[in-house]
Amino acid sequence: MAAYDFERLIVDIPDYPEPGVVFKDITPLFADPEGFDAVVESIAARFADAGVTKVIGAEARGFMVGAPVAHRLGAGFVPARKPGKLPRETASESYALEYGTDSLEIHLDAISSDDVVLIVDDLVATGGTAVAQARLVERFGARLAGMGFLMELAFLDPRKAIAEATDAEVFSLVKVG
Ligand code: PRP
Ligand code: MG
Repeated sequence: MAAYDFERLIVDIPDYPEPGVVFKDITPLFADPEGFDAVVESIAARFADAGVTKVIGAEARGFMVGAPVAHRLGAGFVPARKPGKLPRETASESYALEYGTDSLEIHLDAISSDDVVLIVDDLVATGGTAVAQARLVERFGARLAGMGFLMELAFLDPRKAIAEATDAEVFSLVKVG
């Protein structure tokens, strides 16, 4: 597939959600049928030969990218949800936010030790969300195939934080900064 201009459909919103932050609005890209297809196809193509059996995606925007990539790869999809949303017993991992911490949970039967797992999200910024998911995958004894993102805020150096947790491949379609 020819290189797709993802940035054309990602809109910069200055001073959102707070002054000094430029929010990257991906909703126009996902609303565009060709753009949506290009995101899913490009991430899936990179990991097509990795033997992926499960894709894990973090609530909420990780669902938008992770579920279609899983379907494209013929893999299952595992939602990593915010606390208290899943009805059965879960494994939970905390990660740091700018102020305080948050955590992600998956059901105990969502991943098994013979799974090959791909982490997918719209954005990697500090890497905290991705590392929490990598730790969850590790706790189940599964193999991490890699991580695929639409956008990487390279100026925050998420690859450094991720490399401290795992040697899995990190792939992003758009690098910012
Ligand atoms: C955003 C984004 C990633 C995460 C990346 O999610 O969708 O999941 O931040 O940041 P990090 O690399 O610093 O962890 P957010 O927590 O804002 O929630 P949302 O997906 O529900 O919008
Ligand atoms: Mg998110």
